[in-house]
Amino acid sequence: MTMSDPVVEDVVTTVSHSAPEIRRGLVGRRDAVDEENPSGETQVEADIWADELLADRLSSIDGVSQYASEEREAIIDCGRDAASTDGYTVAVDPLDGSSNLTSNNAMGTIIGVYDAPLPARGENLVAAAYVLYGPITTMLLATEDTVSEYELTDGNHRRIREDITLPDDPVVYGFGGRVPDWTDEFTEYARTIETELKRRYGGAMIGDVNQVLTYGGIFGYPGLESRPEGKLRLQFEGNPVGYIVEQAGGRSSNGEQSLLTVDPSDDIHERTPVFVGNESLIDRLEMQLS
Ligand code: F6P
Repeated sequence: MTMSDPVVEDVVTTVSHSAPEIRRGLVGRRDAVDEENPSGETQVEADIWADELLADRLSSIDGVSQYASEEREAIIDCGRDAASTDGYTVAVDPLDGSSNLTSNNAMGTIIGVYDAPLPARGENLVAAAYVLYGPITTMLLATEDTVSEYELTDGNHRRIREDITLPDDPVVYGFGGRVPDWTDEFTEYARTIETELKRRYGGAMIGDVNQVLTYGGIFGYPGLESRPEGKLRLQFEGNPVGYIVEQAGGRSSNGEQSLLTVDPSDDIHERTPVFVGNESLIDRLEMQLS
């Protein structure tokens, strides 16, 4: 994995080397703890453990100025100048979809490397990656140049696909949230998509997005009647996944505009509706929701 920037390369390599260890560490850490994350969701032991492991390793990289995670309230200031041109900031979802641990289903780790202080616009990402803990451990990495897929084993990463683009003919869709809680506009859109594509929803965004990148289609977690801001977090989930899908030739949206162009609020844990997939499907969604 050779990249033009050594700091970004160090961050990505640290994640790829940590992933097999995180996977092994899930055993025995599946139980809920008596805590909630800053978004008010139940945490399992593995959430906290994976966050601490990644925080230690990523925040000690020279050239990383801030570390933020879905599992901790405040941004860690790594003692370097986040505003300086050579400081990168990293936003991590240590275990995306960790409620799937209870039922032993797919989960992921997401990382966004920003060239700006956090919270930042998605346009400030210089790289984003996710690890998928499926039957095998893989990593999808998007840089400014290309999107590649790696298989991760202890101490090794082997590139198995490069210059990944979304297939032209979409096949799958996955939409989150309870159907009665969807807005009328989104329900209408979903009803049409159901007649065209095959449903694939697994309850962990990374698993579902990886299906979209493999087969083409759309993943969405919409704004709900009970929660118009949706469920997923802009800095840790929406932006990195939006960046990966856009670099692969697809589109991302919050229902109105590319996730990457959204101005973040001061809240690092800000939520947003998230839609990613083939351009034509996202264009139609925005028309339906506007
Ligand atoms: O916390 C994020 C997450 O676990 C995503 O990975 C996933 O898409 C979503 O929540 C699942 O939510 P629900 O349980 O409402 O389907």
